[in-house]
Amino acid sequence: MWVRKLSRKLIVLKLGGSVVTRKEKPFTANLPAIRRLAKEISDAKLSQLMIVHGGGSFGHPLAKQYAIKEGYRGDPTQLFGFSKTRQAMMTLNKLVVDALIQRNISVVAVSPSSFIVTKSGRIATMTDEPLKKLLQTGFVPVLYGDAVLDFDLGFTILSGDQLAAYLAVQFSAEQIVMGIDVDGVFTADPRVEESASLIRHCTLQELKKMHTRIVDTSSTDVTGGMLGKLIELTPAIEKGISAFIVNASKPKNVYKALRGESVTGTLIQKT
Ligand SMILES: Nc1ncnc2c1ncn2[C@@H]1O[C@H](COP(=O)(O)OP(=O)(O)OP(=O)(O)O)[C@@H](O)[C@H]1O
Ligand SMILES: [Mg+2]
Repeated sequence: MWVRKLSRKLIVLKLGGSVVTRKEKPFTANLPAIRRLAKEISDAKLSQLMIVHGGGSFGHPLAKQYAIKEGYRGDPTQLFGFSKTRQAMMTLNKLVVDALIQRNISVVAVSPSSFIVTKSGRIATMTDEPLKKLLQTGFVPVLYGDAVLDFDLGFTILSGDQLAAYLAVQFSAEQIVMGIDVDGVFTADPRVEESASLIRHCTLQELKKMHTRIVDTSSTDVTGGMLGKLIELTPAIEKGISAFIVNASKPKNVYKALRGESVTGTLIQKT
């Protein structure tokens, strides 16, 4: 049985869509990775944990096809696209949640679009009582990047990155652990630029400079890939919450990051 360790503060774990799905293959989950991560999360035995996963090949292709992020233009096919995007994300969420339950973790799937409304793409209202209560009771809420309603745009895409950073601030997390499919933040996309080097540590000031320097070539990601991730993390870093970006495709990395053990990655801290 999963034992809760009561001494630690909340950690928000974002599992990248690049890890839990095969990004190049539409609607294809990476089940071995999901199952391995579920075991790592279970082994880490954290008392306070919130999980957010990304969309990967379940969310991004549909969101792109129906231009969901850009908002509702009055075209009824877009409404259908919104329905399909939401359903695809729930399908992926079920696979993740099933794997966590298999490992005896008391998870509860929480659908972001049912309690969050954005304004021009930014979280504007969030009913936080259910989440607060879930955490206090000892559950691990599992959320995801989602298609949500938007006060200005009608609807849009809320990225798992924005959601993870927002939840970390809202619930005073100690750290955001972000699992992606490369070793951390590099000077350029390591999949494109062989000479790119890993940035192991960076401060808020350096992070802000990096916004203009990082070269990002992500094309399938409607929410801005690596650069979008760094921009989203910034407000949480400003509040003193550290972010640790690690390669979740490599076994044991997420386990070690959750346990506070040393692991290769990018640690971003306020100072
Ligand atoms: N400077 C950079 N450093 C590291 N990775 C980068 C950089 N620029 C681009 N990338 C790309 O960013 C990708 C990870 O971000 P991406 O948004 O694709 O994944 P994710 O956030 O895990 O997925 P999702 O958005 O579905 O949750 C890596 O696969 C890498 O190729
Ligand atoms: Mg992304």
